[in-house]
Amino acid sequence: MSDRYLNLVNSPLGSAVASRVGLPQPAKLRRYAGGDPLLPGPALLGATGGKPAAALRKLLTGAGAEVVDTLGEGERVAAAVLDARSVAAPADLGALRDFLAPAVKGLQANGRVLVLGRLPDGKSVTADATRQALDGIVRSLAKELRRGATANLLWVENEASLGAALRFFLSGKSAYVDGQPVVLGAGTAPDPTDWDQPLAGKTALVTGAARGIGAAIAGVLARDGAKVIAADLTQAGETLAKVANRLGGSALHLDVAAADAPPRLLDHLAAHTDGLDILIHNAGITRDKLMANMKPEQWDSVLAVNLESQLRINDALLGSDQLNPQARVVCLSSTTGLSGNRGQTNYGATKAGVIGLVRSSAAAFAKHGASTINAIAPGFIDTEMTAKMPLATREVARRLSSLQQAGLPIDVAEATAWLASPGAGGVNGQVLRVCGQNLVGA
Ligand SMILES: NC(=O)c1ccc[n+]([C@@H]2O[C@H](COP(=O)([O-])OP(=O)(O)OC[C@H]3O[C@@H](n4cnc5c(N)ncnc54)[C@H](O)[C@@H]3O)[C@@H](O)[C@H]2O)c1
Repeated sequence: MSDRYLNLVNSPLGSAVASRVGLPQPAKLRRYAGGDPLLPGPALLGATGGKPAAALRKLLTGAGAEVVDTLGEGERVAAAVLDARSVAAPADLGALRDFLAPAVKGLQANGRVLVLGRLPDGKSVTADATRQALDGIVRSLAKELRRGATANLLWVENEASLGAALRFFLSGKSAYVDGQPVVLGAGTAPDPTDWDQPLAGKTALVTGAARGIGAAIAGVLARDGAKVIAADLTQAGETLAKVANRLGGSALHLDVAAADAPPRLLDHLAAHTDGLDILIHNAGITRDKLMANMKPEQWDSVLAVNLESQLRINDALLGSDQLNPQARVVCLSSTTGLSGNRGQTNYGATKAGVIGLVRSSAAAFAKHGASTINAIAPGFIDTEMTAKMPLATREVARRLSSLQQAGLPIDVAEATAWLASPGAGGVNGQVLRVCGQNLVGA
């Protein structure tokens, strides 16, 4: 479902009219295409309280960024990276203003602002308040940026996952991730031999892979080198086969809500693979009704597909020998699970439930050979699910984010692929919103 308004305001006449009458002017987002450089221009690097760390500079240049330390009058940069890990008192925060004010003025369209901080740790109230302030600065700045630019915050507790995180957040792969904090903790996060094929040698299974977000995820995992098992309902047969064939993967008919889904999955893995490295719980349904009109079957089916299936499959995998060490599990949640949505108490239950699942099982996955489990919470994404919405509602929903447009399935897929990669080993038990910073809700 193409966004006609976005195309219109990106034409010379449409842009002039929108600007004159004060209509939203969403930008065409910079999305990753094979072979793209990390950034289409230099990255300005700074640090609070001294010089930027040599290790950070090395990670940036190693990822292909041209790093500059100053911004001359009229010069423009594709990214501004500020290491703010040293802030400890409110007065230190002035250094963020000193760096960010000119950097934001010199930011190219689709630019990236990335702030590195330390998590509050309970040792000093003043330091914790100051560290937490970074979150407010980044979220507010993200709402000010225009022309497709984004701002995000990395809480760097451990640098093992920093390289992979920089490559994701500075590239076009993070186009629809905006105003988000992510904790980079301890974990096994080996660099791949080839950054263009970080999933080489991995076996991945994606549920609900016949269309929409699931098909896009399967595509990106295959692009990144994984051998993909595309799973979906038997009814999805032909479209599922097409997806699997296109990716050189295999198709599996699996109703994730069926009582025998976990043993069938384990049997399939035992017969056809050397164990599973990546599992994407993407299958999901909606049966929207106001609570007053909600029928038991509408309640039960959504609970069964969106939440109970994930719980049962994870339990079976953890209790088997079919889940390889350093496995990556990514569960599809939704911003509805964070902020609620009218008519979606059943769906909201499952999507918040997935967040509880991920947080509560992170330790068990870490124990399983340093594996991880995380959730992705997409906002408004253009798919067949959202195409069914009335036109006016869809138009409004599209504009209600800092990026003033809907995301695409590829945006969710890129974020999923990052969390599924070996380099994201320090990210565990977290929720990443891929929502263009929805203005409604949390
Ligand atoms: N589209 C959005 O805006 C949006 C926003 C937030 C979250 N999500 C979540 O992302 C995921 C994918 O959404 P989508 O928009 O691509 O949906 P979609 O309806 O286009 O595709 C869902 C796929 O899951 C499959 N499926 C349904 N029940 C299944 C079952 N029991 N077993 C196996 N497969 C099953 C369907 O056949 C279909 O191929 C869902 O979990 C959804 O809740 C979507």
